[in-house]
Amino acid sequence: MLRLRTRGKQRDRKTLQGQVAVVTGASRGLGSFIAEALAAAGADLVLTARTAEALEEVAGRARDYGSEVLVVPGDISTPETRQKLVEEATSTFGHVDILINNAGLFETAAFCDLSPDTIDSILGVNVGAMLHLTHAFLPGMLERKRGNIVNLASLAGRVGPAYSTVYAATKGAEIAATHSLHATYRDSGVKFTVVCPGFVSDTGMWHDQAMSRGVKTSRLVGSSSPQAVVAAVFKAIEKGPVEILVNTPPMRPLLVIGEISPRFRHFVLRMMGVNRAFKRTAELSEDR
Ligand SMILES: NC(=O)c1ccc[n+]([C@@H]2O[C@H](COP(=O)([O-])OP(=O)(O)OC[C@H]3O[C@@H](n4cnc5c(N)ncnc54)[C@H](OP(=O)(O)O)[C@@H]3O)[C@@H](O)[C@H]2O)c1
Repeated sequence: MLRLRTRGKQRDRKTLQGQVAVVTGASRGLGSFIAEALAAAGADLVLTARTAEALEEVAGRARDYGSEVLVVPGDISTPETRQKLVEEATSTFGHVDILINNAGLFETAAFCDLSPDTIDSILGVNVGAMLHLTHAFLPGMLERKRGNIVNLASLAGRVGPAYSTVYAATKGAEIAATHSLHATYRDSGVKFTVVCPGFVSDTGMWHDQAMSRGVKTSRLVGSSSPQAVVAAVFKAIEKGPVEILVNTPPMRPLLVIGEISPRFRHFVLRMMGVNRAFKRTAELSEDR
């Protein structure tokens, strides 16, 4: 089991003591890293995902830091699980200070090869759960004039790589929704941040489905560590910028130019082997 290896000073300083954080998709991947780091910083946690056993393992590690941890297993795309999560979080802790909408589903397939059910599942987790949980927890935060909502989107939502149409659509939606919330509730005391990683190494969906099976992109694209994503989440909680990109330095100027010229962006995606990597991952998924 990969564990959080870089516990920064800020996290040892228990900067989040007394705060309650909900982390969706906490059973594995980035969510488990984020949950453990929040516990190390002193937060109490509400963790959710479908796999109860894996959630309990993460909860156990979080409790080692002294955190109180509530585990609510279930499918976050359903109203039943979301209602249970909100009710149990509120009855256990009284309030929630931080919501991390991290749970995500990813596809690598040509769009026409997806079933309608797969499209609905991805929409339900990546967009539906994010909006409904925000809708449930935000009023309490507004009342207390403080809180953080952190959405884990992706650079895919900015650039639209091949073979991940629904994923890219949902991540674009998360980016737009976060900006709209930021604009709507300006000066409310609640901070809204969308964290957009590129490829992440060592854990998570791209590692599991692509990197660990030998899929490569150009070195210029590179990858970020899970710790870099955790650092972005802490920056979101502390400073509240509306958007944080987590990627390798060469990608930044390319993204800026790509905003001005979509044609250039697609040229870069092709030249750097990004589209090829998604296509290869789709082919490997077919072979499973
Ligand atoms: N890894 C990357 O390279 C990367 C890059 C950019 C952005 N991101 C974003 O980062 C976030 C976390 O990704 P990850 O890489 O850590 O993914 P991951 O390893 O696949 O983990 C996804 C998490 O979401 C949970 N989940 C999936 N469907 C669910 C459902 N219906 N109900 C409840 N929980 C559900 C999974 O738990 P169960 O299966 O137990 O339900 C798991 O805990 C995602 O939003 C993703 O888009 C990741």
